[in-house]
Amino acid sequence: MRASMTVLGIESSCDDTAAAVVFGTPDQATIQSSIVESQTDLHAAFGGVVPELAARAHAEKLDHCVELALRDAGLTLADVDGIAVTSGPGLIGGVLSGVMCAKGLSAATGLPLIGVNHLAGHALTPRLTDALHFPYLLLLVSGGHCQFLIVKSATDFRRLGGTIDDAPGEAFDKVAKLLGLPQPGGPSVEAAARNGNPKGFALPRPLLDRDGCDMSFSGLKTAVLRMRDQLVEADGGLTEQSRNDLCASFQEAVCDVLAAKTSIAIKAYKGLSPATPSFAVAGGVAANQAIRGLLETVCTENGIAFSAPPLALCTDNAAMIAYAGLTLFDLGRSSDLSLSARPRWPLDQSQAPMLGSGKKGAKA
Ligand code: KG4
Ligand code: ZN
Repeated sequence: MRASMTVLGIESSCDDTAAAVVFGTPDQATIQSSIVESQTDLHAAFGGVVPELAARAHAEKLDHCVELALRDAGLTLADVDGIAVTSGPGLIGGVLSGVMCAKGLSAATGLPLIGVNHLAGHALTPRLTDALHFPYLLLLVSGGHCQFLIVKSATDFRRLGGTIDDAPGEAFDKVAKLLGLPQPGGPSVEAAARNGNPKGFALPRPLLDRDGCDMSFSGLKTAVLRMRDQLVEADGGLTEQSRNDLCASFQEAVCDVLAAKTSIAIKAYKGLSPATPSFAVAGGVAANQAIRGLLETVCTENGIAFSAPPLALCTDNAAMIAYAGLTLFDLGRSSDLSLSARPRWPLDQSQAPMLGSGKKGAKA
């Protein structure tokens, strides 16, 4: 039997400063504590994440988050067996803040250090929450990412496809902005869509005519902008009903694209003849009930298990980094103090880089 470990995780690659403690083995791990301090208010006035402000806020908050995570777990650093930190991809200033903090802790205590790919943290979360067996299919869908990955092991990921421009969360946020709804856009567009007619406006389903599971959401957002301008010109403004109908029509278009591309990805995944075929969706957009529900239906139709981690573990957090670090330590891996921060770090190095980078900048 493998030895259990206690790992401290640190995450600061975008606009959440996070620290967490995870205990156990790769097959059975539990979260002892998880602290996430959001920077949403800090960036609200700018309509997006300001990298310099984010980096400074991470540097100011990281020590405190680590202290809170240890306190909540009822531990001190003396009880920890290793330190895992996001070392990319992400906004470089923020990643650097986390890496410097982790290196300082490692140098001071002599604890082993491991640099973790943020996307691997997301991708391995279904093993932490639902003990999914390799290989499983993952759709990572958030404000910064949108990609299908076959997770073959903790170090072997195959990207089947992804967005070639905006991530869906980014499109939700932009649509909310252009319709005068509050940020973050996903929840407000979803709420408005509940009172709207999804057939109210004909919006495009980009790339549905193409094979493969690449996606595009930028044209869809522009189509909503054009529709809004036409309505404003014709009626002198947007009625609440037309705004709700636009939100419902937009959301349905996103649902249709994700569902169709998930079916294609499942076929490719099933080609590997997995013993226990499973699909997981993660990322902030996985909170959307319409998207979640439709993806579950697609999985049922294709005879494959569906799972979606709890929302707090879908969005950025440090428990996923601690767990991924624990898994890597278990494989005998570690980093030394020359560990560097990487703005770009695709999980599947064999694939061409994706064209789109999303609002949150450099996430692969
Ligand atoms: O994973 P996340 O917290 O951060 C990263 O982008 O990495 O995802 C945030 C994104 C935002 O774009 C937000 O609008 C979107 O997830 N989101 C949603 C919903 N809740 C959050 N999108 C659609 N429907 C939702 N209910
Ligand atoms: Zn993320």
